[in-house]
Amino acid sequence: MNKKLLKRSFFINALVGLGVIVSLIYDLKIRGVNISVIQLHVFFGIVQLIIFGLTLFFFNNHLGLVNEDCDSITVEYKELSKLNRLIIDTTPTGLVLLNRKGIIEYVNQSTGNILGSTKTVGLNILEFDTIKQSKLHNGIVKASTGIYTEILGEHYTSFTSRLEKILNIYISPVIDEKDGNVANIILFIHDITKEHDLKVEIEKTYLSTIEAFAEMVDARDKYTGKHSKNVYQYVSMICEELDLDEKIKTQIQVAANIHDLGKIGISDSLLNKPGRLTNAEYDSIKKHAALGAEIISKIIGFEDISLIIRHHHERWDGTGYLEGLKDSEIPLGSQIIAIADTYDAITTDRVYRKKLGREMAIKILQDEKGKQFNPDLVDIFIEKITQ
Ligand SMILES: [Fe+2]
Repeated sequence: MNKKLLKRSFFINALVGLGVIVSLIYDLKIRGVNISVIQLHVFFGIVQLIIFGLTLFFFNNHLGLVNEDCDSITVEYKELSKLNRLIIDTTPTGLVLLNRKGIIEYVNQSTGNILGSTKTVGLNILEFDTIKQSKLHNGIVKASTGIYTEILGEHYTSFTSRLEKILNIYISPVIDEKDGNVANIILFIHDITKEHDLKVEIEKTYLSTIEAFAEMVDARDKYTGKHSKNVYQYVSMICEELDLDEKIKTQIQVAANIHDLGKIGISDSLLNKPGRLTNAEYDSIKKHAALGAEIISKIIGFEDISLIIRHHHERWDGTGYLEGLKDSEIPLGSQIIAIADTYDAITTDRVYRKKLGREMAIKILQDEKGKQFNPDLVDIFIEKITQ
């Protein structure tokens, strides 16, 4: 922009100068003054000197402006650098800059607070005692090829300071704009230890509330006083044999504990009726699955548990209730609970009959493979229960 200004002023000066020359010659001609070639040369020389002087004057002014601009840009740059430094040093996010070989080139103050030490510059991040995680190594290898990686909820212990933290680590390549190659790798480290501890506390509170629910349900039925606990234990035995995600496993176990919660909406006389149920009474009993699911669905985060409860009386062949789902349409947790529920019902005293032996229960489960139950899960359960 300043170069443009200079060009423009030079051009204007030249035009003004030319105008002055033309008007002077014209003026002299009108006055009838006889102008010789020498006089014209002298005259032009003077005018050129004046134009040159004026141009220098403008140049000087504009160059001064440029210098002033440069000075203000330098000040702004310094201020910006100061601001950036302030942001980097005060952000609660730990920032670690690595070269492509994983050598630490810079860490901010928060990294020191999170990891317990800032004396890390020059070390290979994988040799630094606080971060010897294979996931981190893989992330850095990926970042060196330009791939961004997230490591969430990583447990980490410092071998020197014994600090124990839960971290979210985001590993990002820094691309060189000139050649498009990875110039550096940057780690953003979030300390989520407090949030994690709070979450664990909330989960504990939820689980103790559910325990109370389960006891409440069991207390309603004088014959099946430990039914929820028994079903929980059998379900846990099956879950141990399956390669389940920890979250899914917990959901199934929680659902097992409160699968009959809906029975709180059924009268004692019906629940403890010794004789055979009429069709209408049986229909009322069936409602416990829907009622239990609806109660639990009100708890945020319990939607999947609610679904497991809703379908715990479905049958593998599609003749169960509430919706007549069959085989893999039935949630896995519901399939598992159905087996545990039936086994416990057969092997404990009921209001309408005395308990049957374990062998009889196993025989019934075998007979119901592919009809009432998932055959693979029955095999897993029988193998486990007969060990
Ligand atoms: Fe049930």
